[in-house]
Amino acid sequence: QRPLRVAVLGCGSVGSQVVRLLDEQSRDLAARVGAPVELVGVAVRRLDAPREVEVPAGLLTTDAEGLVARDDVDLVVEVIGGIEPARGLILSALEHGASVVTANKALLAEDGPTLFEAAAKAGRDLYYEAAVAGAIPILRPLRESLAGDTVTRVLGIVNGTTNFILDKMDSSGAGFTEALEEAQQLGYAEADPTADVEGFDAAAKAAILASLAFHTRVTAADVHREGITEVTAADVQSARDMDAVVKLLAICELKDGAVAVRVHPAMIPRSHPLASVREAYNAVFVESVSAGQLMFYGPGAGGAPTASAVLGDLVTVARNALAGKTGAGESAYADRVVLPMGET
Ligand code: HSE
Repeated sequence: QRPLRVAVLGCGSVGSQVVRLLDEQSRDLAARVGAPVELVGVAVRRLDAPREVEVPAGLLTTDAEGLVARDDVDLVVEVIGGIEPARGLILSALEHGASVVTANKALLAEDGPTLFEAAAKAGRDLYYEAAVAGAIPILRPLRESLAGDTVTRVLGIVNGTTNFILDKMDSSGAGFTEALEEAQQLGYAEADPTADVEGFDAAAKAAILASLAFHTRVTAADVHREGITEVTAADVQSARDMDAVVKLLAICELKDGAVAVRVHPAMIPRSHPLASVREAYNAVFVESVSAGQLMFYGPGAGGAPTASAVLGDLVTVARNALAGKTGAGESAYADRVVLPMGET
């Protein structure tokens, strides 16, 4: 059987774990896919940067554009993040006949339709389970398992950094700044935590969740967004007094056929399952007409957990490639009204 050839773009905390798992699990992956899966290149910004895993020198390249344009590459894994050069590289990979697995929430939320249309035109797959809530399988359940049901509401704790901060404020009475410093010391929050604490990261994930839950297209610009920087120790204490907790929630709702999506800090009763989501964990609570209430819970970030979701997509896409078919990365078949900025 001809091997499936994989190129990885980016070798940071997620990319290096993808490279490690491709090596360590090569026998299992080959058995599950039905053909050997061969890593043919890893694109990085600097060849001499320190890395979590050893990548054979012959595989490293700084020429990402050249790597995705190779006609022997079947599958490209994009774990660089951000809008450019990721968008250009994904479009180029599709044009050159490769399917794509990406973890890039910001790009999907900003310009998903361009990518989905390029994949459809090329007759290739575009999968992105790792883009929302890291290791938690949530996109495939929304797109496939619940496709025969009607999802009415999705409530998500989809940003680990802000959940850690709010949990710290709740458990120790710390203020926002103090809790943020601890999150940074423990490596949860980035040196520049803006995307997390201002809710941009959660808003991008909310747009992706709403698109799949309601089978329509929602972009980050449709999402009303408020972060947690204004949440004070006194707010958290007031919530405690009411036997509630403050969480940064992504709220996606279907009401009278229209979709509304918003991200903001919310008080939830301690008896609600989402209140038990501590530290940097994520959870997505789904309400649907027939299934009722479901909750998906687990690690929402981190190298190995996110790489687990990437590898799951890689197996699906590789199986599709061998079977000569494509799956459906999105499910935009109902053009619903999306209310501006999350209005209800
Ligand atoms: N910064 C994100 C978080 C990482 O804290 O959840 C995963 O997108």
